[in-house]
Amino acid sequence: MNLEYKRLGKTDEKIAAIGLGTWRLGGSMSPDYTHDLEIVDVIRQAVELGMNHIDTAEMYAGGHAEELVGRAIKVFPRDEVFIATKVWYTNLHHDDVLQACERSLKRLGIKYVDLYMIHWPNERIPLSETMKAMEKLYKDGKARYIGVSNFSTRLVEEAQNYLSLTEIVANQVEYGLHDRSIERDLLPYCEKNGITITAYSPLGQGRLAMELKARTKRTETLYEIARRYAKTPIQVALNWVIWRDNVITIPKASSKEHLKENAGACGWRLSPEDYKLLSDSWR
Ligand SMILES: NC(=O)c1ccc[n+]([C@@H]2O[C@H](COP(=O)([O-])OP(=O)(O)OC[C@H]3O[C@@H](n4cnc5c(N)ncnc54)[C@H](OP(=O)(O)O)[C@@H]3O)[C@@H](O)[C@H]2O)c1
Repeated sequence: MNLEYKRLGKTDEKIAAIGLGTWRLGGSMSPDYTHDLEIVDVIRQAVELGMNHIDTAEMYAGGHAEELVGRAIKVFPRDEVFIATKVWYTNLHHDDVLQACERSLKRLGIKYVDLYMIHWPNERIPLSETMKAMEKLYKDGKARYIGVSNFSTRLVEEAQNYLSLTEIVANQVEYGLHDRSIERDLLPYCEKNGITITAYSPLGQGRLAMELKARTKRTETLYEIARRYAKTPIQVALNWVIWRDNVITIPKASSKEHLKENAGACGWRLSPEDYKLLSDSWR
């Protein structure tokens, strides 16, 4: 399997173009322990396939997603995995950020996270205060890189202005064939400023697979291109997402079959003509 790695922000770090999302693994808002063994296995398989960018959050499954990630990665050397997690928007006061990070590290069983992000902005808490705490985590070696999620262009700019020692390397936002809103403004801004876009819900939270079954007009283009490249329509859709240099993605998968299929979206590239054809037919 030819996984592909991209530069993270303006750093020298290489990050898997297709990683693994963990929202709804091990529960949604609260823990569900029934599938723990299978989930740990799936996360390990992802790392073995080279999809070593694992995305989680303190909010996922009430912390249990982080626990599962921690259990899964303990068999790998620490530098073989890239762990990204997020602080929930109610924990954005200075000391709350520091404490939330400590709790995440404990659940993950690691001493530092690779990427620590603000999950959602919160207008009730001064961003300057939050960014000060984020920078402290960076300075103390608890977070190797700092990022944001669901931030507009204006907020990314503002957040960056509060940092003096490091830069925002990534903004995690929804992006896929079905949701193109970032193309107007945020995507060009991040491209120009060397910020990685981590595309979440690249498969429309499962809607793409359903639409493919229903064979709507726009899925016919996906089927046709997939045939020509000897790939599956899902692989074409994910390849479309990571087509631009500064975009990576983190589809969630709970089976090895899905993982393998998603990993196979790497290592080849849609031609500019097919990229445009797909972009236009899903507009
Ligand atoms: N920052 C944020 O606010 C935010 C918001 C949402 C998501 N995220 C992150 O982004 C990750 C991905 O987004 P998401 O979970 O919302 O949605 P998604 O990745 O677009 O879709 C996940 C769904 O697609 C299915 N799937 C995966 N691979 C497939 C394949 N090869 N063929 C057919 N179906 C496939 C999964 O099924 P199975 O489970 O059966 O494999 C699951 O139902 C999350 O897990 C989370 O880490 C972040």
